[in-house]
Amino acid sequence: MKRIALLGATGSIVRQALEIIAAETELELVAAASGSQAIDGLAPLTQVGGDPTELLERAEPDIVLNAVVGFAGLPATLWALEHGVTLALANKESLVAAGELALAAQERGGGLLLPVDSEHSAAFQCLEGRRPEQVDSLVLTGSGGPFRGRARDELEDVTPDEALAHPTWQMGPKITVDSATLANKGLELIEAHFLFGLPYDRIEVVLQPTSVVHALVRFRDGASLAHLGYPDMRVPIAYALAYPSRSATTVPPLDFSQGLVLEFEPPDLETFPLLALARRAGEQGGTYPCAFNAANEVAVAAFLDGRLPFLGIAATVEETMAEVGGASARDLDDLVEADRTARRLAERALAVT
Ligand SMILES: NC(=O)c1ccc[n+]([C@@H]2O[C@H](COP(=O)([O-])OP(=O)(O)OC[C@H]3O[C@@H](n4cnc5c(N)ncnc54)[C@H](OP(=O)(O)O)[C@@H]3O)[C@@H](O)[C@H]2O)c1
Repeated sequence: MKRIALLGATGSIVRQALEIIAAETELELVAAASGSQAIDGLAPLTQVGGDPTELLERAEPDIVLNAVVGFAGLPATLWALEHGVTLALANKESLVAAGELALAAQERGGGLLLPVDSEHSAAFQCLEGRRPEQVDSLVLTGSGGPFRGRARDELEDVTPDEALAHPTWQMGPKITVDSATLANKGLELIEAHFLFGLPYDRIEVVLQPTSVVHALVRFRDGASLAHLGYPDMRVPIAYALAYPSRSATTVPPLDFSQGLVLEFEPPDLETFPLLALARRAGEQGGTYPCAFNAANEVAVAAFLDGRLPFLGIAATVEETMAEVGGASARDLDDLVEADRTARRLAERALAVT
């Protein structure tokens, strides 16, 4: 029996995780935490707000599913890695912001870090058992979001409702807006760099609008392995919770009798500059990825509040990145300070937008 703690308990990922846990006798829900909404009775131990690591200390889980949204997920990520507790990681922002600290904590803790992001789960499965020198490059796929194919001037007046209408995935609001700006692919690029130890020039992003191919690995002999399936987060969530086994899910297998469209196209980096900005932040290293994430969180929140136009999200992040220092973080305090500074700069950029 595996004891599971769910963080981000009112969100889209955890809703789907609860379905998987209910159907799998080997998984036992022992604790759940949310940010502000009540979750009484959801699990034997619950917590609303505050430091989720206090709940984790009491619950003693075997697996932490971290599905908190944003930088707020960082303490739980570091706690699980430091304690050698298996981390099923949906909260990509924590690995983006704290990649080096997180990997050092994992080294000390010795536990598993299993990606829940569908692309990274797919890449993890393609890469499992391969030696790094056999790998040529990794390809992360993305749908392109609701605005794929539009020109920049067609994005000037788009509303939050339009940005939240994702063509292939049902997700929480922050990641859905990130998908519309392609910031999500940028965060995923940095996440992949830390998860798989590949340099940025060996990680490519391509669009695959039907979201059936989740990732692809090219090997040095010219072969490529791809991971395919209908876009449904229950597959990577179940994979992480059951690892190294595989649980049954109600997700149907691919049906070729209905036809399958597998077209690929390059992302439009001029219309959606956040992907290239994220790549640059990743390559710069230090606390640049942390600052990118912080500025993006501030800008997305302002867009969803109606305080910033869609194109202002990238402009705010770009302005912030031009001003931050980016020195490496020695510890969590340094990182929290880098996050705070970037948020302050982003808020200042918003004020003059
Ligand atoms: N949804 C997907 O399909 C998907 C796919 C891949 C990756 N992810 C990643 O998974 C994470 C969660 O995404 P989601 O779509 O499930 O988000 P969501 O539906 O917006 O849910 C977010 C959860 O985080 C909690 N939360 C927010 N602020 C918090 C804080 N300060 N402390 C503790 N908990 C807090 C919320 O609790 P309250 O409601 O109480 O505020 C809510 O339970 C994100 O990092 C996202 O990038 C999601």
